[in-house]
Amino acid sequence: MEESVRMKHDKKADLIIHSAHMVTMAGHTNRPAIGKQMLEIGLIENGALAIKDGIIVAVGTTKEIEASQWIGSGTKKIDADGKLVTPGFVDPHTHVLYGGSRENELPMKIAGVPYLEILKQGGGILSTVRSTTQAKDQEIKDQTKRRLQTMLSMGTTTVEIKSGYGLTLTEELRGLRLIKELEEDVPLDIVSTFMGAHAVPPGYSENDFSQLVIQEMLPRVASENCAEFCDVFCEPGVFSVENTEKILLKAKELGFKLKLHADELESAGGAECAARLGAVSADHLLKVSEQGIKDMARQGVIAVLLPATSFNLAKNVYAPGRRMVDSGVPVALSTDSNPGSSPTESMLFVLTLACLYLHLSPEEALTAATINAAHAICRAESVGSLEVGKKGDVIIFDAPNLNFIPYRFGYNPVQTVLKEGHLVVERNVFS
Ligand code: NIG
Ligand code: FE
Repeated sequence: MEESVRMKHDKKADLIIHSAHMVTMAGHTNRPAIGKQMLEIGLIENGALAIKDGIIVAVGTTKEIEASQWIGSGTKKIDADGKLVTPGFVDPHTHVLYGGSRENELPMKIAGVPYLEILKQGGGILSTVRSTTQAKDQEIKDQTKRRLQTMLSMGTTTVEIKSGYGLTLTEELRGLRLIKELEEDVPLDIVSTFMGAHAVPPGYSENDFSQLVIQEMLPRVASENCAEFCDVFCEPGVFSVENTEKILLKAKELGFKLKLHADELESAGGAECAARLGAVSADHLLKVSEQGIKDMARQGVIAVLLPATSFNLAKNVYAPGRRMVDSGVPVALSTDSNPGSSPTESMLFVLTLACLYLHLSPEEALTAATINAAHAICRAESVGSLEVGKKGDVIIFDAPNLNFIPYRFGYNPVQTVLKEGHLVVERNVFS
């Protein structure tokens, strides 16, 4: 008798959000949304959802949820009347673990010195390799934690983080260990990627360093099981398609899932290479070829587009996002948060740029920043949409509708963020 009373009580939700203009993104968990599917955002007017033990247990209209078995005397109710509610953003491409910053490079950039020229002069990525290597573990963690908290305050609840500011076995392993440790410090889900092939360090040829990554780094990272993906900066002057392919083939053999920085500054067959290797995603793609688009669509390689990087490179060159959506390539969005080409944590700004310069609609952009982004890091079964069984990762915006989010740029309309049902951000928004 007592047991059945307790079980009945256990059936009650911890909290519900109700009366919302609610975008669920439902229906895209099994595969990423492509083409017109990217417009299907699962809008529920006067919508509600219930969360129990961090997991979404019911989604529907406010009337349906209020009449359901889930409401008990202990269920907390959040009134989202007049507010937009969406899944937490998923940011599937960042380099947010680093020490220092690179504002000293801004005058050079304004004077027109190209990104790869700064790198060639020992600046760029190599300058962050120095400042990261010199920093203590706790300094790197404190700085990164602040950036992750900034992300959270702007609605990001899941993030991918790459190593790649170490470029020696010891330093790359340290980076991956710190990424793991950060999971204890911030309430975000973190997915880690090994990116030893981020730049060629001084004293090495590209071929020799590629061999070091293949023979020494990859086997050790695999045996320590500290990264799920392997990524390479595939770009003429950094790692050629040939070396990228060698590195990623070895990574695949060792059980890593694959990503590529592809066709960012020059069209060089990066997207085609991603399709050949069965990569989960190819990222950047400002200069992707027609063949590359076709190959990615055929193989279902996700295009992770990074318009904040294009904005910050200041060349007015953006990836052909519209063309890729229309060609059936699954498109995702990300910040590329890093100290050089994209010093921002804001998926909100990325949404604005995606609408204005990649020519995506707000619906397509939000699909790309949530469920398709979750697919880009193989987390679609647990995050990226508001559906029963998924984590209670939710944003409540002080905004009346979806268009408002990309429209109102340079401003944070996030009012509340829930991570696995816990209130992790609560802000007063002055609009
Ligand atoms: O994705 N392109 C290579 N890597 C990063 C930039 C890293 C940096 O500049 O520190 C990117 O843009
Ligand atoms: Fe990147």
